[in-house]
Amino acid sequence: MCGIVGYIGQDDTKEVLLNGLEKLEYRGYDSAGIATLNDTGVQVVKVKGRIAKLRESIDSSLRATMGIGHTRWATHGVPSEENAHPHQSVSGRFTLVHNGVIENYQELKENYLGNVRFVSETDTEVIVQLIEKLFAETNNTAAAFRKAMRLLKGSYAIGMIDHENKDTLYVAKNKSPLLVGLGNGFNVVASDAMATLKATDQYVEIHDQEVVLVHREYIEIHDLDGNSIMREPYTAQIDANDIEKGTYPHFMLKEIDEQPFVMRKIIREYQTENNELKLDQNIRQAMNSCDRIYIIAAGTSYHAGLVGKEFIEKLANVPVEVHIASEFSYNMPLLSEKPLFIFISQSGETADSRAVLVKIKEMGHPALTITNVPGSTLSREADYTLNLYAGPEIAVASTKAYTAQIAVLAILAVDTAKTKGLPLDFDPMQELAIVANAMEVLTDQKEAIEDLARKYLHTARNAFFIGRSVDYHVCLEAALKLKEISYIQAEGFAGGELKHGTIALIEEGTPVIALATQENVNYSIRGNVQEVVARGANDMVISMKGLERDTDAFVIPHVHELLTPLASVVPLQLLSYYAALHRDCDVDKPRNLAKSVTVE
Ligand code: F6R
Repeated sequence: MCGIVGYIGQDDTKEVLLNGLEKLEYRGYDSAGIATLNDTGVQVVKVKGRIAKLRESIDSSLRATMGIGHTRWATHGVPSEENAHPHQSVSGRFTLVHNGVIENYQELKENYLGNVRFVSETDTEVIVQLIEKLFAETNNTAAAFRKAMRLLKGSYAIGMIDHENKDTLYVAKNKSPLLVGLGNGFNVVASDAMATLKATDQYVEIHDQEVVLVHREYIEIHDLDGNSIMREPYTAQIDANDIEKGTYPHFMLKEIDEQPFVMRKIIREYQTENNELKLDQNIRQAMNSCDRIYIIAAGTSYHAGLVGKEFIEKLANVPVEVHIASEFSYNMPLLSEKPLFIFISQSGETADSRAVLVKIKEMGHPALTITNVPGSTLSREADYTLNLYAGPEIAVASTKAYTAQIAVLAILAVDTAKTKGLPLDFDPMQELAIVANAMEVLTDQKEAIEDLARKYLHTARNAFFIGRSVDYHVCLEAALKLKEISYIQAEGFAGGELKHGTIALIEEGTPVIALATQENVNYSIRGNVQEVVARGANDMVISMKGLERDTDAFVIPHVHELLTPLASVVPLQLLSYYAALHRDCDVDKPRNLAKSVTVE
């Protein structure tokens, strides 16, 4: 969470910083700020709120050729102007932005900064005051910066300006993402290459516990002892068009519409020229030699994991447990003798999942990460990675990454079944191609779904999603999607479970959305619908072609029974989108959330 950006060059710094922060706003948007340095000194502008407000607050005549910027998702301290970054040291010499959490900030305060009067409640201010304190001992900014980094415990990506040095930006990283971008006569720093892609596609990875001195013409990478490190740049593989909305009103709608293309891309990427499945042999080996799989994930990715369990158990005959990352870390179950861990994460940066990864690596277990960001922390630190190929997902609510995760899990399960020589009546690529077509049919029916959103959810206070077997997993995802962007209290339930307590909440007009895509439970889920209708619920059944009844509100095209989540989730994503839209909610940036959750 939080995004940082930095620039040193010749151009109008404030524009580079503001443009970069706009691209990083998905990482948090509680407050924002920039600091720029020119001949008259440092200028800091901070606001509580979004980048648009920050832009309005900055004097358009401000000129500078270096600066740092920050967009915040509050951890320590409420969202406020005081707690917004950048933060300054007491003398005003050092100005700093930070993404991450400093775990020992209290201890540092007590041990080193007893006399300092802090102006914010943040852990970040401790870093900048500490650097000033250490500078007083060394009179060398780079040395004080490195020494401070050695004292910090926790996660950080940091950008700092020393007002006495107009030729250097000081940056450092540990466990939080940070890249340095190389330009001609300028260099940039960003939490994500998306922020500075317009300026350059050449990036250098910064590893944990490294500091970089970023100058206009070159950069210097050092370890915390000051030893020099050489590293070649790489070309960022993001298409600048992928991070623009184009003609769409919201990224979420664009990303929902992109799902058929993502399915086709996955088919291409995971298939050889001879139409064989294409997977790293080491992953095959890991899948075949484990006796149990532990899927670890959070939120939407956890919901994809629940569907993945069905594939792996049913097709590949390997037992699977799916765990919420934040729970697993502190309450680990008894593990099997030969476990394989699969981490599912769109961003590849989720701190809850990473905490588990660190623990299980210490225990010596193998890990596979399924992610949309191949160079991300979870990808780098696991033994193997499977890429989602979904393209950048900007809307905070995950849509195309969820369906990509399910598709890749299906391929993984089928591949494992094939290498094990298990009987299989299922060509995943052919079935995924059918899914892609079905998704196209579904995304063409926006008007019908918008009508349903208006009819069922416009004034709803709460809503229930019910389904059985794999439909239940999709209901959990549908409820999460609805609540996170429309703020309607929504819950997903196993169809048979509602009557064991929650049915007490059903009253006249309560929306109950039921999924009916599974033949073996079609009869029973319909019974559950009758139970709630009898108590006044406003029912909306979404069924699959072949299982539909005349009264169903919406029918999805027929797809393979195992892959129904890929199709059934599309109208549910659209339903949430239109519900949020008609309730005037900020669809792409719902309150209190951030796209990449890098705190535990
Ligand atoms: C909801 C959503 C979140 C994420 C969760 C995990 O729409 O996007 O629930 O799924 O924060 O994030 P990743 O997948 O990046 O690990």
